[in-house]
Amino acid sequence: MAGSLEKNEQEIEFLRENAILVSKTLAEVARCIKPGVKTSILDQVAETYIRDHGAVPGFKGYQGYPATLCISVNDEVVHGIPGERVLLNGDIVSIDCGTKKNGYYGDSAYTFEVGEVAPDIKALLDHTKASLFRGIEAALAGKRVGDISRAVQGYVETKGYSVVRDLVGHGLGMELHEKPEIPNYGKRGTGMKLREGMVLCIEPMINLGTRNITHGSDGWTIRTADGKPSAHFELTVVVRKDRAEMLSTFRFIEETMVSNI
Ligand code: MF3
Ligand code: CO
Repeated sequence: MAGSLEKNEQEIEFLRENAILVSKTLAEVARCIKPGVKTSILDQVAETYIRDHGAVPGFKGYQGYPATLCISVNDEVVHGIPGERVLLNGDIVSIDCGTKKNGYYGDSAYTFEVGEVAPDIKALLDHTKASLFRGIEAALAGKRVGDISRAVQGYVETKGYSVVRDLVGHGLGMELHEKPEIPNYGKRGTGMKLREGMVLCIEPMINLGTRNITHGSDGWTIRTADGKPSAHFELTVVVRKDRAEMLSTFRFIEETMVSNI
């Protein structure tokens, strides 16, 4: 039944189609990421690719959001609006992409390196991505939302990073943001019980410095309060009994990056 938090296999196939399209769109964008590129160009590449595949951008028009991608550079945590900004050597850039097709959404994000990135910032990216996989491993039927949250938080805080608290992951379906909310901090054994067929977007936003954030005057861009870098990775998974099933994947992105070398 549409609208339920547990999706049936037909709904999961629609969500999978969107998740794969989002994953492939991120890989298309990845090919264009280099010093000197304007962020609005990346947005155009994504929009064209999504529409060429019979879908529409999932974020454009959502609560008035003006673009296909959220592009967040360095101290920008999430929800940066593409525009005239030019990427520079040493930047990191979070690209968050949404699609909509057959009435269902796709939503995933990856933080890329631009040229040569400093080792401490590279480590922030690697550990944030690893924390996402810790969270995914905890997304099992019978466990609770807090088990995912705790897995992410425990991993990154051990490394000395901080977890953004004001923004969270979420359920996904015919709405971009469904229940439950998935904070990236919390306590084991607390929160909503996970049931087989729930489709979740897990999306750690992890800072090198303070966890505090500020809201930009454009009404969207979130930045770290201390100006230090922030990383963001997001995947969509289905809660299953033995292991979470990933609907979106970083495989296409990582294949592109290997062939770029
Ligand atoms: N991945 C982001 C989120 O889950 C995408 C929303 S951005 C918006 O919040 F522009 F669509 F609002
Ligand atoms: Co999301």
